[in-house]
Amino acid sequence: MRQPLIAGNWKMNGSKAETVELLNGIKAGIDQITTSEVAVCPPFPFLYLAEDILQGTPIGHGAQDCSREENGAFTGQVSAAMLKDFGCTYVIVGHSERRLFNGETDAIIGRKYALAVEHGLTPILCVGETLEEREQGKTEEVVARHLDGVLESGGIDALAKGVIAYEPVWAIGTGVTATPEQAQEVHAFLRERVAKKSAEVAQGVRILYGGSMKPANASELMAQADIDGGLIGGAALKAGDFLAICKAGD
Ligand code: G3H
Repeated sequence: MRQPLIAGNWKMNGSKAETVELLNGIKAGIDQITTSEVAVCPPFPFLYLAEDILQGTPIGHGAQDCSREENGAFTGQVSAAMLKDFGCTYVIVGHSERRLFNGETDAIIGRKYALAVEHGLTPILCVGETLEEREQGKTEEVVARHLDGVLESGGIDALAKGVIAYEPVWAIGTGVTATPEQAQEVHAFLRERVAKKSAEVAQGVRILYGGSMKPANASELMAQADIDGGLIGGAALKAGDFLAICKAGD
């Protein structure tokens, strides 16, 4: 039985005061959540607030990215070791916004994933196709390529230490959610692909759905056999909505 994980990806949002309010809001309602694991991924400058405010709660925190380098002259970058130092348990790697706006390739993402694992973080690997790729019937080819990037660099052992998030690019921030059937189809495909390397890892690895997940559609999505939680963007910025999604995962 896989424990559902609901992770909030706050992206580049919020002031210091808003972050404190959001963290306290989630903290205040966490007792209602009985089964799901809950984590938040604030922007880098606010990680210290998450570490401080969430201390002693079951709410984990993570970052939205890490450097592909260990340390050194890489201006503006943040290493996996630094994230660990700020109490992070998770780090998102390969989000489509980083693939698109920062030119991240599967090889780069593979390196980030490996460094995260090396430093004791749990990477959340994002995979997903664009609308054009879906319309061309390339969904499976694209998500397989994203997954294989990690399988090739770190092998099945590395994959066993992470979480996968299926995020169809066309559903991110658009209000258009994949139907539960569309999402389940891709999740099942991903799990089968992992099973080709190890049935045991395939059974254990959590595959989250991300893309306009909200309180109104979360239960139906998470009721699917291979959907083990969510990576939430917009709806994670309101404590009430985020907690309602966490509740749906219970
Ligand atoms: O990482 C989160 C996803 O990009 C989903 O974002 O819930 O705003 O569509 P969204």
